Amino acid sequence: MKTINIGILGFGVVGAGVAKLLIEKKQLLESRIGAVLNLKTIADIDTTTDRGIELGSTALVNDAKLIIKDPDIDIIVETIGGETIAKDFIFKALENKKHVVTANKALLAGFGNELVKTARHNQVDLGFEASCGGCMPIIKSLRESLVANDIQSMSAILNGTCNYILTKISKDGSAFDVALKDAQDLGFAEAEPSLDIDGYDTAHKLAILNSLAHGMEINLKDIHVEGIRNITPVDIEFAKSFGYTIKLLAIGKKHDDHVEARVHPTMISNSNPLSHVDKSMNAIAIEADATGRTMLYGHGAGMLPTASAVLSDIADIARNIISKTKRRVPILGYPEDNIKSIPILPMSELYTRYYLRFEAQDHPGVLSKISGILGENNISIKSVHQKGRQSNGKVRVVMITHIAKEAWVQAALARIEKTDSVVGDPVIIRIEEITQ
Ligand code: HSE
Repeated sequence: MKTINIGILGFGVVGAGVAKLLIEKKQLLESRIGAVLNLKTIADIDTTTDRGIELGSTALVNDAKLIIKDPDIDIIVETIGGETIAKDFIFKALENKKHVVTANKALLAGFGNELVKTARHNQVDLGFEASCGGCMPIIKSLRESLVANDIQSMSAILNGTCNYILTKISKDGSAFDVALKDAQDLGFAEAEPSLDIDGYDTAHKLAILNSLAHGMEINLKDIHVEGIRNITPVDIEFAKSFGYTIKLLAIGKKHDDHVEARVHPTMISNSNPLSHVDKSMNAIAIEADATGRTMLYGHGAGMLPTASAVLSDIADIARNIISKTKRRVPILGYPEDNIKSIPILPMSELYTRYYLRFEAQDHPGVLSKISGILGENNISIKSVHQKGRQSNGKVRVVMITHIAKEAWVQAALARIEKTDSVVGDPVIIRIEEITQ
């Protein structure tokens, strides 16, 4: 039986998960793939901590070059993360004609187009199933299973940290900071959580998925990104009273000559299955022309769920090697020459429905002043909701709009903020139409 040699760069949680599956699932993998997947070497600066894995003949070294330059290694798995040394190692591995598998979404979102070019130039593969949605097979679904479809839209919960925090606020009425601390204590959130809670991790994943869905270059910089720091129990309670749930969604939609790509807290109806995806779980709903709606649901992080996705890429590459082929499936789902640069709609051009909340003075004429400014900016109000006077003498006023243009809403809010009718910044949460 053919032996395929594998090296892992980074022996952290994901690297250890990959090692564990390669070693403990050796028999299953051999019988499924028809080749021996031999974990030859692991490199990490820490070679002493016990990861609880019996490495057997696998070498643990502290120098990545011993893997990148090893002529016997066929596939290199990068599980270091980040955009500094991991980037350098991946480019060097591709240039050394190694197939590379990575879970590094930040790197792919920032440098994916260059990585794809380098892999093409060196005629090697680049696998990244674990970069988006953990164990959910979303990359393979977009790249292969949905090949006969125009992907019309994707709406997804792709960050377990944010989803855990929003679920906690919703279920217990906790303040954001309390929910974040709870997520950190349970190990869901990083000690430095901004990449997750400010929406950037979700945006990295959306940049990758949009490219695969629409055959476009990876474009992170034009994605509109808002995180969940300003979500309060007050807005979650209002949402509940309307039959809505607030989720941090990645939204990608295809139009004739552009795409939408945005990440922000979104109100969705409780009849939308995504509203029931709770705690740290991830899910993606895809609308496509032949399939209609399909959904994937699963663990977006964690040792073995992420390692499972890495193994699916290793298996694909191993199967290519044993059938003496290479790059059977294009890295971004389209041959590189067919990948286009498709513009992302500027946020100011978006049309959607809005939830607007104001802390208003409880004086005669305040409501008509706010609604007057909205009307002068073309914004039609669907409903108005008011909660009684608070101890500070202010009232909470919520307005739900009909479909309006983002630029009109921003212009109206800028004017309303300057009046003496409201205090503080209005809260704006976009409402996504129900799709089932
Ligand atoms: N930090 C991510 C999350 C997991 O909270 O979902 C890895 O993508």
